[in-house]
Parts: sequence; C-alpha cells; structure tokens
Amino acid sequence: MCNTNEETAKKRVLSCIQPSGLLTLGNYLGALKNWTEMQYEFDCTYAVADLHAITVRQEPAKLRSQIYSTFAILLALGIDPDKNTVFIQSQVPEHTALSWLLSCYTQFGEMSRMTQFKDKSKKHPDNINVGLFSYPVLMAADILLYKSDLVPVGEDQKQHLEIARDIAVRFNNIYGDVFTVPEAYIPKAGARIRSLQDPSKKMSKSDDNVNAWIAILDGRDDIIRKFKRAVTDSGSEVRMAEDKPGVSNLITIYSAVTGKSTADVEREFEGKGYGDFKLAVGEAVADALAPIKQKHDEIIKDKKAMEQLYKAGAEKAEYVARKTYFKAMKKVGFVL
Ligand code: TRP
Repeated sequence: MCNTNEETAKKRVLSCIQPSGLLTLGNYLGALKNWTEMQYEFDCTYAVADLHAITVRQEPAKLRSQIYSTFAILLALGIDPDKNTVFIQSQVPEHTALSWLLSCYTQFGEMSRMTQFKDKSKKHPDNINVGLFSYPVLMAADILLYKSDLVPVGEDQKQHLEIARDIAVRFNNIYGDVFTVPEAYIPKAGARIRSLQDPSKKMSKSDDNVNAWIAILDGRDDIIRKFKRAVTDSGSEVRMAEDKPGVSNLITIYSAVTGKSTADVEREFEGKGYGDFKLAVGEAVADALAPIKQKHDEIIKDKKAMEQLYKAGAEKAEYVARKTYFKAMKKVGFVL
C-alpha cells in the first residue's frame, strides 16, 4: 500500500500568463477557460508572468494595475487559490535565480533560432534587449521549478516548451535526475479565436483596431457593438467553411461560450441572416463575460484581501520552488 499515493497522485500542471495588456476573449477561450477546468483533474500552478512583460517597455503605473487585474481575473474565473497555487512570478525570487543557472546550460545558437525572438526583434528594433533574447530560459525556470508534468501551450509557445525540455534533459544528463521533463498539454477544447476584423489573424490585444478584439473586462454594450461590426463573408448562410473564415470564427466563439456543437449552431441559425447571428454571438459573449468582470471588479476593490491572497500564493509557490532551486545549486557545486 505504500505507493498508493504515488500511483494516484495527480499530474502537475503549470501555466503562466503575461500581464502585458488587457486579456482578451481569445485568451479566455483559448487558454484561461481550460485553466479553470484543469483544476479538477490536476495539481495546478498558475502565475502572472510579470517578469516576462518587461522584455518590452512598460509604463510603471500601467504595469502595476495590469498585474493586479490579471491576478484578479484568474480568481474571478473560479480558479481556487486554496486548491491550486496562484501567484505573481516576481514575488518568488527563485524564478530569476534559476534562470541564471539555466542560462549557463543554454546555447547562444539555440536561443537565436527562436522564432518569437526574431519576430519581436523586428517589431521593436530599437529595444532588442538581452531579456528578450533569454526570455525562454526564464520560462524554462518557471516550468522546471514546479516539477511540472504538463504545460498547456498554444502554437506560439511550443518552441519555448521544447527548449525547456532540452535544457532539463541536458542538465539531468550531467547531474542526474534533477528536473522533471515536461510535456506539452493540448487541451481538448482550446478554441483558436481570430480577429473580428480580419479572421486571417489571431485575436490580439496589440491590434490597433479595437473592434478586432474583445477584452475580458469589456462592458456589454461594447461587446455587442464590436460583434455587430465583425466582418462576415459573402453569402448569407451560417455555416462552418474554409471559404467563410469570418462566419466560422463567430461560430467557434458562439459554440465555445454556449457549449453548443457546431452542427447545433448551424441548425439554430438556418434561414436567419448574419445580422441576427452576430447579435446572438455578441449577447452570448456578453453573458459569459459579465460574471467574470463583476467578480474581478469586486476582488480588485479590496486590495488588502487581494494582497493576502497573492502573498499566500507566493509563499506556497516558493516552498516548492526553493527545494528545486537548491537541489540544482547543490548539484552544480555551490555551497549551501
Ligand atoms: N511566455 C508565455 C506567453 O507569453 C507566458 C509564460 C511565461 C509561460 N512563463 C511560462 C507559459 C511558463 C507557460 C509556462 O504566453
């Protein structure tokens, strides 16, 4: 019976989200909604990756308020801070500390090949800082500190997870079994949400056209107005099809927020025009986001209570992080 606990132990999941702007409906349906669902099956650690956010210049007051707001959104989504570990990355110093250690086991060449680094360097040619370059090493530290088995990642982060795995394997090959080698976790229902104005692009908060994206904290009227203006396609049928990228995106959204299947959605709007359909999607999204916004607003108002929660989260996280960090330090030969 002595290994029962081991056999029934839940897998450890880790994910982080950057507070570098307003979170969108795309973040919600593509990732965060799954974070809430995963807490019932896994042992979850979720962090606000604020250290990652400063690889591009941030305005201090805005960064601070976005860190608070992102933390509050995680709780507002129903992620239980007692059941899971929910914290703010910069409050656990082992992240930066392990990141330095790991950077000495990471090659310049492999970092140079990261597509996100190349893209971001092009986007910010006047601020190609070393942090932007070594960003995946900090991400590897986030993952490895918590002995994560599974990391839910979208397409854009797959390469970074690969590097985290490579670093872990490399380190383990030298020093023995120090790090758990993580696997990518592709959630069953991660919806890929496109821009409402140009469905060939991902929905992104950095899109200059505010009608292209919905913030989780947008109010009902804004949400409905943006959906009314969403681009559709030629024809008038509400049908999932490759030559109907705008309508298909709206079907994906509607089906994700209502839980209805694509076929049911198509049936529901048979014979109805795009106008009716867009209004229905807007209302459904507004209904889904309203309770999150309401909860977020309550949490953010009580700074003292929120402070207690993020401090407790950081303490819980650091308890695990410190052990992994010291184990790695000791293996390398540092005096503890
Ligand atoms: N880099 C990720 C992003 O921009 C955020 C992130 C930081 C992350 N650390 C992580 C994601 C660890 C997964 C695991 O989306």
